[in-house]
Amino acid sequence: MSTLFSESFLQRPRRELAPGAVWVPDWLSTEEQRWLVDRFHEWGRGPVPPRAAKIGAGEMSVQTVCLGWHWQPYAYSREATDVNGNRVLEFPEWMVRLGRKAILEATGDPEAAAGYTPDTALVNYYTGDSKMGMHQDRDEQSTQPVVSISIGDTCQFRFGNTVNRNKPYQDISLASGDLFVFGGPSRLAYHGVTKILPGTAPAACGMATGRINITMRVTGLEG
Ligand code: SIN
Ligand code: MN
Repeated sequence: MSTLFSESFLQRPRRELAPGAVWVPDWLSTEEQRWLVDRFHEWGRGPVPPRAAKIGAGEMSVQTVCLGWHWQPYAYSREATDVNGNRVLEFPEWMVRLGRKAILEATGDPEAAAGYTPDTALVNYYTGDSKMGMHQDRDEQSTQPVVSISIGDTCQFRFGNTVNRNKPYQDISLASGDLFVFGGPSRLAYHGVTKILPGTAPAACGMATGRINITMRVTGLEG
């Protein structure tokens, strides 16, 4: 009852941060979140285990598992040649539908939603200490939007401009069940995760600790 009739929509209203960048708090029900957490555990069991991608001399502080196409910093491939050489899992049909639903929610445009066919998802797991530096999602050849879904601990998400990593940027709290879509003029906006707030995951979401973020994208690649 308390979540069903909560006033969170008053405290965390839907917002367009910039043209094409839409934040929809509490988009997923807790049941949907739990279902996705179960899928996350399945994906983690292979064929390609989650790994911290190498960036330059260092390693990312998140663990990533991919669907559809395997992402290595700056390139996509079907085989995870930087992990164990296995082919990544297929991109699930249900996730295409979820992506379309997200685009419909964000844009209100049924044609844009019907025309959206994501073919890769990067699924990141954050511990309490993980962060993600400001970056652009620019390894895709398509300009179709990125759909981002968060489950578990709340994070501080920084959404910047399309020119550089610096100000102006906006900081928002992405909580469990939130949707964030960035497309159109915001597709190449810099963004990052400045901190995780440990212990903020709602008990009902299925994650005792940590944060999962799923970003769906259209690679524009063939084969
Ligand atoms: C990403 O930029 O790939 C992930 C963003 C997030 O974790 O919210
Ligand atoms: Mn990104």
